[in-house]
Amino acid sequence: MTDNKAAEIDARDLRRAFGNFATGVTIVTTLDEAGLPCGFTANSFTSVSIDPPLLLVNIAKSAFGRDAFTGSRGFAVNILAAEQRELSNRFARAGTDKFANQDWHSAITGSPIIDAVVAWFDCEHFEQVDAGDHIILIGRVLKYDYNTHAPLGFCRGAYVSFGLTPNMLQLVSTPGSLRVAAIIESDGKILLERNPENGQLLLPASNRVGDAATGDSLLGKLASAGIEVDLPFIYAAYHEKTQRFVYYLGELLSINDAVETRTMRFYEFDNITWEEINDSAVIAMLERFIREKRLGNYSVYIGDREQGEVHPA
Ligand SMILES: Cc1cc2nc3c(=O)[nH]c(=O)nc-3n(C[C@H](O)[C@H](O)[C@H](O)COP(=O)(O)O)c2cc1C
Repeated sequence: MTDNKAAEIDARDLRRAFGNFATGVTIVTTLDEAGLPCGFTANSFTSVSIDPPLLLVNIAKSAFGRDAFTGSRGFAVNILAAEQRELSNRFARAGTDKFANQDWHSAITGSPIIDAVVAWFDCEHFEQVDAGDHIILIGRVLKYDYNTHAPLGFCRGAYVSFGLTPNMLQLVSTPGSLRVAAIIESDGKILLERNPENGQLLLPASNRVGDAATGDSLLGKLASAGIEVDLPFIYAAYHEKTQRFVYYLGELLSINDAVETRTMRFYEFDNITWEEINDSAVIAMLERFIREKRLGNYSVYIGDREQGEVHPA
């Protein structure tokens, strides 16, 4: 790319492009001059060398903890477990008391090793490289440990769980335990179905995706309401006991207005009667969807109901 082109790079768009690279999530820690623990969430961690044992992480020059990190004896990289999303959020917020109520211990450099992480590396500084708006901290690993717990993942601005794939396979192969639903948006409206028995609102759902010709499948139900959709993305997937839920993000292909669609209709985001939706997981997910739709930046949530963005009912 020429310099000319480089000057045209849009920072937000470049960040979004970089965000396609799926990573784990770490909390990088150190002790400041006063011996107080500090840390920040980072996904720029990379292993660098085995001999000598080196790793790197990038810290923004604008970070509150910059001086603490560049001036310390060393730093520790804590690789987060799937259930440590809240911790990740907390350490991504500047200026909060990040270590309040958080158990940690130290190894060699004194840098905090956070409890229940899947791996940690205690490092002394090896080199610091000035790199644009960041500083690359290259650390020499002095001590480390790890376990077999599932790590937290991050991609396209959202947390993901790498533990899903086997679950998904199990999900698909367990008869009767699957619930599939579709989030279908059109012009700031979302498709909801009214349950004729109790009057509650819900997302169109079934026990399988099926096709337009199969009446009781998800696509079949939609087709009989005159709604033709594509379901290209999974927006959320979680399990609750033996029941597994997959929420697809649907793309509306066509609507046949001639069909009487008494049970399904599109609701303006602002006119959704939330009190008529009796599933708090669906409410949390729809709120996330509407938020992300307005920001124009979707995330994919994959995890289980307890650990996820979708909170327990
Ligand atoms: C998933 C995730 C990854 C991040 N990765 C980095 C990173 O690699 N380097 C960085 O400097 N900030 C990164 N951040 C942002 C910092 O965590 C955030 O700016 C934090 O407030 C910095 O802490 P401080 O300003 O209190 O020092 C990341 C945030 C998130 C949520």
